[in-house]
Amino acid sequence: MSIPSFVIGIAGGTGAGKTTVARLVTENVGESVTRIPLDNYYEDLSHLDIEEREEVNYDHPSAFEWELLREHLRELLEGRAVDMPQYDFELHNRKDETVRVEPTDVIVLEGILALYDEAVNDMLDLRLYVETDADVRILRRIQRDVIDRGRDLEGVIDQYLSTVKPMHEQFIEPSKKHADLIIPEGANSVAVELLEEKIQAEANGGETRTWERLDAEGDAKDVN
Ligand code: CTP
Repeated sequence: MSIPSFVIGIAGGTGAGKTTVARLVTENVGESVTRIPLDNYYEDLSHLDIEEREEVNYDHPSAFEWELLREHLRELLEGRAVDMPQYDFELHNRKDETVRVEPTDVIVLEGILALYDEAVNDMLDLRLYVETDADVRILRRIQRDVIDRGRDLEGVIDQYLSTVKPMHEQFIEPSKKHADLIIPEGANSVAVELLEEKIQAEANGGETRTWERLDAEGDAKDVN
């Protein structure tokens, strides 16, 4: 068990390639990396029936249990394990079982609104925003939702137009201003290689973080 030395947030619209970037940049960090999908922190909706759950706006910040996420990040940063919820996209709800997550050198929080919450942002050492064209993102989303998640095409299109797209414009895209780096076109190899090197160096650097965020005057801000 270790005190995490580098915490990364990866945000971006649906289908932007966040998961791929998260996997590639931490590929060589081995076992000392923990991935936290923001999806696991969707609110518990057990009080609603499936039809009601299908109607929920899953792209609005209110769909997430931010307090639990903040608490889990704080625990991990202090070197304590947490029981992370798991999410079921078919049932639109949290699963009954949780997964025990031990603190590791590198932690990666990944999701549409990973850079949305101020308290969460304060805990991140590196904030990335993956920017991919909307047409590419929607094509990927259709493929994933229809083929992998067994949803019908009409429903996917309705959801995209009624909530996914407007929420992207209202909350996700504006969260880009919190990013330290914007990665164009998802997993572009130059960005991935540079990040991979940086992350490996931080992971191997022990418990002290060497990363400092500077304010407009060039003074170090207290990011930890
Ligand atoms: N979502 C959904 N049904 C739910 C819960 C979430 O359709 N019950 C959708 C939300 O509409 C949201 C999306 O899940 O837009 C968030 O996941 P997304 O970012 O698309 O997935 P990743 O695979 O993590 O993204 P990427 O392709 O960038 O890796």
